[in-house]
Amino acid sequence: MEQKITSLREQFTLALNNAASAAALEALRVEYLGKKGLLAELMQSLRTLSGDEKKQAGQLINTLKNEVDGLVRAAAETLQKEEQKRQINSAKRYDVTLPERTEHGSYHPISLVQREVERIFVTMGFTVEEYPEVVDDYHCFEALNIPKHHPARDMQDTYYLSNGQLLKTHTSAAQNAIMRKYGAPLRVIFPGRCFRNESTDACHENTFFQMEGIMIDRDISIANLIYFMKTMLSEVFQRDVKVRLRPGFFPFVEPGFELDISCLNCGGVGCPSCKNSGWLELCPCGMIHPRVLEMGGIDPDEYTGFAFGLGLTRLAMMRYGVKDIRDFNSGNLKALAQFTQ
Ligand code: DAH
Repeated sequence: MEQKITSLREQFTLALNNAASAAALEALRVEYLGKKGLLAELMQSLRTLSGDEKKQAGQLINTLKNEVDGLVRAAAETLQKEEQKRQINSAKRYDVTLPERTEHGSYHPISLVQREVERIFVTMGFTVEEYPEVVDDYHCFEALNIPKHHPARDMQDTYYLSNGQLLKTHTSAAQNAIMRKYGAPLRVIFPGRCFRNESTDACHENTFFQMEGIMIDRDISIANLIYFMKTMLSEVFQRDVKVRLRPGFFPFVEPGFELDISCLNCGGVGCPSCKNSGWLELCPCGMIHPRVLEMGGIDPDEYTGFAFGLGLTRLAMMRYGVKDIRDFNSGNLKALAQFTQ
């Protein structure tokens, strides 16, 4: 029996040296220590022995059992440590002593202004709506009282897709869908990216942002329009802003206006940034044309409303003193990151 135990120990030592993975170790453990394992088998065979011999052999088997158990555990631990070491030395390794990266992402200045204006309008009961950049001719023009061949289209040449759709030239393109979606009364603003076939210079870009707004209810008048514009602009510029309305033509409003604000640089006296006029053109607007309401499914005899098309890009330039519109799309992170808040 003693002989058997000794040879089993030798056999185990050999097998242990060859077990190179956690799975192999587990198999070895089961082979030796499992319920039907080699050591259990050996214990069974003790039944044939008697007295002292049985006692002695039993002790030897138990010693071997403890040895096997201890050695398997130790080997598993060593394997685990080696695995950890391998991971630390592999590609996943990082150096905690490296200095922190100082370049962080930042909000684009137009996004900052957009979020600010959104927040102001939301406090005044407006909801914010999104609208696709690819639209059809009907929504961009027809539903805004701009039929084919109308000269107002000349200023809004854009990029056409082969299926006849186009990149929207103004956020007004969403007016009809929003009227149809919500019906009257409604207060909605809808910011968006617009595109035009434009020769670029410091003031013109082929891609720019607008923020359109419409408010429709019973008895809405120009007084409401002026109030909302003035309140919003005073909040944005953090001071009381003087506004004036000049007549302006847009087929989808009647009457239509150009809304100017008193120049923030010179307080209205006249300076180079307002071309010495004391006023800055900021936001075309007007009372929504009855035909446009009708096409939006709203009865013009019952409801009236105002609409405005705020140039968000323009506003961002004024707010942050950006001199060249092309800086916004240049991807120049140094220029853009200055405005991080
Ligand atoms: N959509 C016009 C443009 O981009 C701007 C505009 C004018 C919007 C008058 C309006 C408005 O809502 O009432 O040229």
